[in-house]
Amino acid sequence: MKTGSLFRRVFLKIAAMEAVKSRFERYGPRIGVRRFIAADTLEEVVPQVRTLNRQGLAVTLDYLGESIVDPALADAASDQIIRMLGTIAEHDLNAHISIKLTQLGFQGDPLNCLKRMERIVAAAQYYNNFVRIDMEDSTLTDATLELFHSLLERCGKQHVGTVIQAYLYRSPQDMKLLGGLDANVRIVKGAYREPAHIAFPRKRDVDRQFMELVKLHLAGGHYTAVATHDDELIAEVKAYTSLYGISRSQFEFQMLYGIGTAMQLQLVQEGYRVRVYTPFGRQWYPYFTRRIAERPANLGFVLRGLLRK
Ligand code: FDA
Repeated sequence: MKTGSLFRRVFLKIAAMEAVKSRFERYGPRIGVRRFIAADTLEEVVPQVRTLNRQGLAVTLDYLGESIVDPALADAASDQIIRMLGTIAEHDLNAHISIKLTQLGFQGDPLNCLKRMERIVAAAQYYNNFVRIDMEDSTLTDATLELFHSLLERCGKQHVGTVIQAYLYRSPQDMKLLGGLDANVRIVKGAYREPAHIAFPRKRDVDRQFMELVKLHLAGGHYTAVATHDDELIAEVKAYTSLYGISRSQFEFQMLYGIGTAMQLQLVQEGYRVRVYTPFGRQWYPYFTRRIAERPANLGFVLRGLLRK
């Protein structure tokens, strides 16, 4: 196993410990949370989205939150997401929404989570917008794809999409099924701590499968969101789409807020569609620790912030 993957697994395990979590949360601003989290509130994130839009970047807004079991909190999250759709329309922003199902009580109560998603997707239809269901850890993959399928049948691919993770061995089969539904799919490498019997431990294999999945979906004529900051993979996608005459309106690059900013702007200049995943809200801890886990060097600025007097 390479150092990077080992660091990711160990760091995510340590970050999940309550004592570590409460210390990190206390020092949020000092440890550089703002680098990855655009704002605390919906009102504050609107100008940030507008700035990105002015630079030619589309946005997918993520109201941070996951692993929620309290139904009142899950209802509050879905109300907030519906408000976000209204705000996007009101301010004429070039933005759609990304959602984690566990923010809507998926783990404890999948049926009510589906109902909340139905309300959200109905609002997306009303505002002629789109919501994408993020993919969480592998214990939820089957149920997420099932829920996605039932929403897709009701609302259509122009209003709902999902995500496939290249590190999972199962992903080529899932991708074929989603291709059969002509679904709008975001392909990512995968950000969770997964065992070796479920996911490739080596980056090399993940990268290879990432590219195979992208090609499979593009070659089938389906809309593809290529979500990575990996310049080699991005170059390969550019070469592949140009070689096979795949229209730039059939795919977009997606990157995370605060990562690969220069590359995002460069791609826009070259005439590619680029969308920035822009998280906001106060429940930043799990999202933030996944970003640190992806890149050992990021731990440096966190520790420097913690040690600063
Ligand atoms: P890789 O990790 O190989 O990084 C390539 C280069 O990008 C690095 O060398 C570095 O320069 C830069 N980089 C990457 N991560 C960085 C970081 N944290 N800080 C600084 N630089 C960094 N995952 C998931 O499981 N479910 C999901 O729904 C999503 N959704 C999602 C949406 C979007 C728009 C993106 C871009 C990513 C996700 N992910 C995700 C996360 C994804 O699985 C993966 O963990 C990250 O994208 C990092 O992998 P890269 O593809 O960038 O490659």
